[in-house]
Amino acid sequence: MRYFSALIPLLFFLVGCGAESEVTLAPVVYSPDSSLAVEFISTADSGMAYAVRSNGEIVVDTSQLGFEFREAAPLVKGLNVEQIDIRVVDEEYELPWGEQRTYHNHCQEMKVALKEVGEGGRKLNLIFRVFNDGVGFRYEFPAQEGWENAVVTNELTEFRLVGDPQAWWIPGDWDSYEHLYQSTRLSEISALTMTNDPNLVANSVKENAVNTPVTFRYDDGLHLSIHEANLTNYSGMTLRRPTDKPGFECSLVPAPDGSKASIPIPFATPWRTIQISPDAAGLLSSRLILHLNDPTQSGDFSWIQPTKYVGIWWEMHLNKSSWDLASGKHGATTAHAKELIDFAAANQIGAMLVEGWNTGWERWIGFPDREGVFDFVTPYPDYDLAEVVRYGKEKGIELIMHHETSAAPRTYEQQLDTAYALMQSLGIHAVKTGYVGPIIPEGEHHHGQWMVRHYRKVAEHAAAHQVAVNIHEPIKATGLRRTWPNIISREGLRGQEFNAWAQDGGNPPDHLTIVPFTRGLAGPIDYTPGIFHLSMDPYKENDLQTTLVHQLALYVVIYSPIQMAADLIEYYEGSPAFQFIRDVGVDWEQSVVLEAEIGEVVVMAREEKETGNWFVGGITGNEPRSLEMALDFLGEGEYEMTVYRDGEWALDGTDASEYAIEGPRVVRADEVVKADLAKGGGVAISLIKK
Ligand code: NOJ
Ligand code: CA
Repeated sequence: MRYFSALIPLLFFLVGCGAESEVTLAPVVYSPDSSLAVEFISTADSGMAYAVRSNGEIVVDTSQLGFEFREAAPLVKGLNVEQIDIRVVDEEYELPWGEQRTYHNHCQEMKVALKEVGEGGRKLNLIFRVFNDGVGFRYEFPAQEGWENAVVTNELTEFRLVGDPQAWWIPGDWDSYEHLYQSTRLSEISALTMTNDPNLVANSVKENAVNTPVTFRYDDGLHLSIHEANLTNYSGMTLRRPTDKPGFECSLVPAPDGSKASIPIPFATPWRTIQISPDAAGLLSSRLILHLNDPTQSGDFSWIQPTKYVGIWWEMHLNKSSWDLASGKHGATTAHAKELIDFAAANQIGAMLVEGWNTGWERWIGFPDREGVFDFVTPYPDYDLAEVVRYGKEKGIELIMHHETSAAPRTYEQQLDTAYALMQSLGIHAVKTGYVGPIIPEGEHHHGQWMVRHYRKVAEHAAAHQVAVNIHEPIKATGLRRTWPNIISREGLRGQEFNAWAQDGGNPPDHLTIVPFTRGLAGPIDYTPGIFHLSMDPYKENDLQTTLVHQLALYVVIYSPIQMAADLIEYYEGSPAFQFIRDVGVDWEQSVVLEAEIGEVVVMAREEKETGNWFVGGITGNEPRSLEMALDFLGEGEYEMTVYRDGEWALDGTDASEYAIEGPRVVRADEVVKADLAKGGGVAISLIKK
């Protein structure tokens, strides 16, 4: 149960604004519907703090704000409130692609201007924005004489969540988000319990912290998720759980010298975000992270094409072929690429990814000296890049370029100009990048400020060359796609690849019933769904722990404007279920949540832009489940419906790849569709407008 806090002072308080006048100001700002409120608390003794209420009840209790710096006094206490401004933000905007056509950014903003008392007289602003579905706040260091740079050694932001909600979390690893979500009470969060996770980098154990988004559910149903928006020129935020206080405190990913961020002044930090909803479905509809980013850069982004794609990819993870040439089973050959282009052209797939096309793969993963090895313009001799591009264009298929940096970003940066100029000269508009391994130089981390700058530099460079980027081993998504729509998707979670080779047997049945409420709140996910051959036999030993229909449903459940049909094309040939992948959209007019419970069930319906076709995807976790889906989201008129369901053998556990197809038959909005889902099962529905 949440409670009313004695720590929250009066709703109104007096602020000294110079000797001659005392004005009454409201240090509380409400959401447009008044359900949420943020209070700014400032006392001479304890310094700056904030608290958050939902429908009058405290959800985030008095939580400290402030900074410590190298060679400068901390900014925590002794700040005077100079001015408070409250305004309404109410705007609608469209993006070139998305989970919906129009976005409505509606909130109230409170800007608190603070000034250090005494000699220093440094200035700091705090900006709070309160939406109907959550809260964002950031620190602003305005331009000021005598303070042009600061080295942040600690950001002191706290999130004093009340009570002991259920939490879904991954450890605060500084280099990877590729971990299974743990579900425990907040008080039981401990990365120490994860030392048996072979993918865990030791830092997170040391810190006992979690990465964001991290999501909570209270016993009365209130849901809350903490993350950040617009991570620019700063380091990623992890949340440390102190043993002596409730909730969390910010723990920024350090630079090699232990400092947290070097900032020029003026500067605005990323927004710290708290999404709040009375139910799990509300989290899935929240677009607060996007709203807290800057509007789209001016320029032409019309060349970006949301698309489905196939690729020379899964076969490497199965070890059927390899990235490198020396192994004698090189996957990226001209002939094989053309075979995939032919398949794509025959199956309503718009693009094709080729990994392992360029020299350097003989010394990537596991090699300590990876600097200067990868060459992003030189193909292996058995791969004719220009010919593959030409053949693709002839068949209407776009090539997706691949740049594995092996976490040597300086080598990549040296070649950015030549690599992107080559793509532009060939008319290639997309690249998948990768950062496997520990970052070179040692001491830098994937989620530190130095890498945050690198990822942005690459995205901006790509935009200048009309290239969209899909980043693997990325920094977390923080809504920058609003400003840079060419940041089209990313990994940043335990993806499908783990099902090929993970020592622990792969992703458990409930993995993707947790992901939409955690990692998914940050932005699009390149999960690479569509594995039909559920046993890795004869290449590997793992079996997928979900059904074939679950794989179909992921095209709707997991949002991304690029979606791979990831399996070997021989497993798609002749499969009636593949029709769903042919039909399903990737760019949406609107998205509707039909059913949502974290770790249990996710059912989404999405209307495709332009065609007006609808697609429904539903998945269940560790429990079998019966669903009833009312089609009342449909517009007027008739739709031709095809339902893909777990088959009898999938339901009784004898064969997860068995499915049944019902239809097509004509339906209207008054129809209700029932489906039984196996453990780790799914349902997928296409509704083609007549
Ligand atoms: C890891 C990526 O997640 C995966 O998709 C890719 O195939 C390999 N790195 C090689 O770049
Ligand atoms: Ca990966």
